[in-house]
Amino acid sequence: MGKQHSIVIAGGGSTYTPEIVLMLLDNLDKFPIRQLKLYDNDPERQSIIAKACEIIIKEQAPHIEFVATDSPEAGFTDVDFVMAHIRVGKYEMREKDEKVPLKYNVIGQETCGPGGMAYGLRSIKGVVEIIDYMEMYSPNAWMLNYSNPASIVAEACRKLRPDSKVLNICDHPIGLEDRMAKIVGLESRKDLSIRYYGLNHFGWYTDVQDKNGNDLMPQIKSYIGENGFNLNAIGKESRNSDPSWIHTYDMAKFVYELDPDTIPNTYLKYYLFPNKEVEIADANYTRANEVIDGREKRVFGECRNIIEKGTSKGTTLEIGAHATYIVDLACALSYNTHERMLIMVENNGAISNFDATAMVEIPCLVGSKGAEPLSIGPIPTFQKGLMEQQVAVEKLAVEAYTEGSKQKLYQAFALSKTIPGADIAKKLLDELIEANKDYWPTLH
Ligand code: NAD
Ligand code: G6P
Ligand code: MN
Repeated sequence: MGKQHSIVIAGGGSTYTPEIVLMLLDNLDKFPIRQLKLYDNDPERQSIIAKACEIIIKEQAPHIEFVATDSPEAGFTDVDFVMAHIRVGKYEMREKDEKVPLKYNVIGQETCGPGGMAYGLRSIKGVVEIIDYMEMYSPNAWMLNYSNPASIVAEACRKLRPDSKVLNICDHPIGLEDRMAKIVGLESRKDLSIRYYGLNHFGWYTDVQDKNGNDLMPQIKSYIGENGFNLNAIGKESRNSDPSWIHTYDMAKFVYELDPDTIPNTYLKYYLFPNKEVEIADANYTRANEVIDGREKRVFGECRNIIEKGTSKGTTLEIGAHATYIVDLACALSYNTHERMLIMVENNGAISNFDATAMVEIPCLVGSKGAEPLSIGPIPTFQKGLMEQQVAVEKLAVEAYTEGSKQKLYQAFALSKTIPGADIAKKLLDELIEANKDYWPTLH
């Protein structure tokens, strides 16, 4: 057997932790593990997930040493990988990110617009702290980070920790690829070969082929033009999809109309159809509420069940598709596979007519030295214009954080395509400063 790995999941109390643990256990032949740790700065929240994971691990792989801790030293010592998915401020603050903008008829969203920037200014400190713990206690480790808002977090990593071994990733494209595979009748996203470029939650597929090189774009485009990414038309929509996600999949058909040469990331709807999104939003019950009443209740409830029964037999917890990507990435780094994956990297000429210092999400070959970006070439004016505006917003948000500058954050808000005027930007900014006073640096 190959190398036995040691992993810490940072944000151990996350709703996604059980599905990642189950995925890791399901892949032990491919990716052997000797030690698995959970680290969280809220030990009470983490303990419910941890106790259930401990039972699952005892049943499925008793050789794995399991640790749950809120001590950085215990959590980050002797690890090969840090898998980080923290949510600074938790759902309580996500609710504010979503609800405060809606008061001004502006998009209220976890990663897009003013809510995304508010979350960004909270996340940076937490993520950088975890990088520093990793470098202090396990200097050779890699951090696989999917803590949001990934675009702003990735730019902050580039600026503040340029030499650190951190890869920022997002699971959304693989979710869309799974949907595209279903549309063309293939088993899995792994049967596809794709080309894609953009920023995180802000990109386009330019090519989708099967493994024999057949062009699948015409078939997928014709489906998306009619149905978006909603799979009901082929009877393959998941019964577990929440109504808000179904709406998002539907909206992709309108986003697609803007450029029928490419297939868009669904998050573009917030920038291209903000009025429509605000119109259908319920300012008293946003996605945070849906998640609190849905995924959080389900995952924590099921963990409590496991703890009560002392066994995970018959559990409804499932391996997450989200997690497959993380295992593949860890394998690529550990075994130098050079697998092709979408990663957020410094552009550095890959998109030839775009800011060299922008953090872009593009295909990379991943090996033991990290991510090697593939060349994209020049991009069209429509995408370039949208991306230039958005990357400037993200850079200004990070500068606001590093310089403690309210002025820069005002500029970021005023520049965001989601906010209709500087007067609204100013009011929103003041209200979000107040809402985030326990988390943001002081802005002057
Ligand atoms: P969650 O609130 O259930 O879990 C987050 C955990 O992080 C909590 O237990 C919290 O106590 C902990 N935490 C907060 N600040 C911390 C800190 N400074 N140090 C250590 N732990 C800390 O959230 P969730 O809905 O499960 O999502 C977790 C994260 O994963 C979020 O950032 C979410 O946006 C992100 N996510 C990203 C992707 C992606 O594509 N990149 C996909 C899914 C989820
Ligand atoms: C996708 C995105 C993530 C985001 C998540 C939100 O997976 O890639 O970045 O965090 O959706 O999902 P939620 O169920 O928490 O609204
Ligand atoms: Mn994402």
